[in-house]
Amino acid sequence: MEIGIKSGSPEKQRGACVVAGIFDHRKPSLAAEIIDQASGGHLSAILRRGDMDGKPGSTLLLHDVPGMLCERVLLVGLGKEREFRDKQYRDTVRGVVRLLADTGIAEATLYLTDLPVKKRNLSWAVEQAVIVAEEAMYRFDRMKSKPEETSKQLRKLTLAVPRRGELAMGEAAAARGQAVAAGMKLTRDLGNLPGNICTPSYLAEQARAMAEEMGIGIQILERAAIEKLGMGSFLSVARGSDEPPRFIVLEYRGGEKKQKPVVLVGKGITFDSGGISLKPGAEMDEMKYDMCGAASVLGAMRAAAELKLPLNVVGLIPTCENMPSGRANKPGDVVTSLSGQTIEVLNTDAEGRLILCDALTYAERFEPACVVDIATLTGACIIALGHVASGLLANHDGLARELLHAGDEACDRCWQLPLWDDYAEQLKSNFADMANIGGRPAGTITAAAFLAKFAQKYDWAHLDIAGTAWKSGKDKGGTGRPVPLLVHFLAKRAEKASG
Ligand code: BES
Ligand code: MN
Ligand code: ZN
Repeated sequence: MEIGIKSGSPEKQRGACVVAGIFDHRKPSLAAEIIDQASGGHLSAILRRGDMDGKPGSTLLLHDVPGMLCERVLLVGLGKEREFRDKQYRDTVRGVVRLLADTGIAEATLYLTDLPVKKRNLSWAVEQAVIVAEEAMYRFDRMKSKPEETSKQLRKLTLAVPRRGELAMGEAAAARGQAVAAGMKLTRDLGNLPGNICTPSYLAEQARAMAEEMGIGIQILERAAIEKLGMGSFLSVARGSDEPPRFIVLEYRGGEKKQKPVVLVGKGITFDSGGISLKPGAEMDEMKYDMCGAASVLGAMRAAAELKLPLNVVGLIPTCENMPSGRANKPGDVVTSLSGQTIEVLNTDAEGRLILCDALTYAERFEPACVVDIATLTGACIIALGHVASGLLANHDGLARELLHAGDEACDRCWQLPLWDDYAEQLKSNFADMANIGGRPAGTITAAAFLAKFAQKYDWAHLDIAGTAWKSGKDKGGTGRPVPLLVHFLAKRAEKASG
């Protein structure tokens, strides 16, 4: 979809449709008031009649409004002005975009970005509008034999900013939104692809294609090289599958040579059957999404490169399948990680931490400014935080605060859980340095406590995205989260690094 930024009055816009908001109790927004004046009170007459009361989600499409050069005016209800916050703004834009697409209106100019959203400014509103619009228009029909009917298409969206002096800022915000949206699309596509196509080697090839397109350095290690490194924990998971593993190393060098990189580590299990600790059959198909951490690292790095962030970013992706077989991990097996620490595998379904721990050790060689890992790690996180917030755990409070803030700015929130030493007690093993599970209580925290044992040499945070990376049910599909959070985090780091 083409996105444009424009300034200028709504009554002067030509084209198919102008969109303006009405607050609850028939209170016109600024843009609606201008339209009302230009049309000689046409809107207020309609409002008085009660055809549009401003309730959230309500819409009214008007044709040939007097005094307007455009073909249509779409009024959209915004709800109470006092309660108009992030969610209401995003819901409004999403609703408008869906309605335009469903009605077959090919092009529209939105007078929504200057609506008074609590604690937000114009730049935020433009970026969010772009992200939400691209998100709403997303389709995944690559696996259908014929593409679904798409005769109706929304070709172009123009976002109006109030003043000419705000055009440049609007353009910059739109560019940021488009980079985030493109990263999210990559992440969603990879997540939605089935496990028989999106295998570890396919994921690696997609990473290579993205890296080459964006000018990012890439190295893909195959089994022999991973063995040589000594990633015994990662390999113990990979061994159960006929699909060979890959270890993907991406290096985006946007910052000064001596600047320490931010390292992103993504869980890349392309299918998680549970292994010998086999999962129950219901909804097991959703375990094709167990590589969404990896996909979000690719999406975020793509956006960082597109935005030319002056920052060094390394991406590390251990990727394999978790399958039962004669060579698979068995409960009770003891494996030796790259760090030298030994692990008793009490449950083969706690495989994410087994592949991540070796990647965390590998991260040390980059002398990172910080390391953030992203993983669909625990079902317990869905119980704790639902599908709203990603779980956040960290060994450094400053880093945790940065991520919390980035999530808030990006409307892609995370919520911190404690990582006190007390929880590590649950990982004690009679036979190895640690067990790979800590029992049912606080499952998200004990998973992070396990990872923390491999992240002692640098500032580290962990995002558990089990509840946020995809949706189940009739809207089943990848969400592209937490790409917005990660891009905001990286952008803020870049800002600070370049003074
Ligand atoms: N990939 C799963 C976590 C998961 C489960 C994500 C459901 C989204 C939905 C992970 O590998 C796993 O199986 N975790 C186990 C850990 C347990 C064995 C300690 C879990 O959460 O049940
Ligand atoms: Mn598992
Ligand atoms: Zn898993």
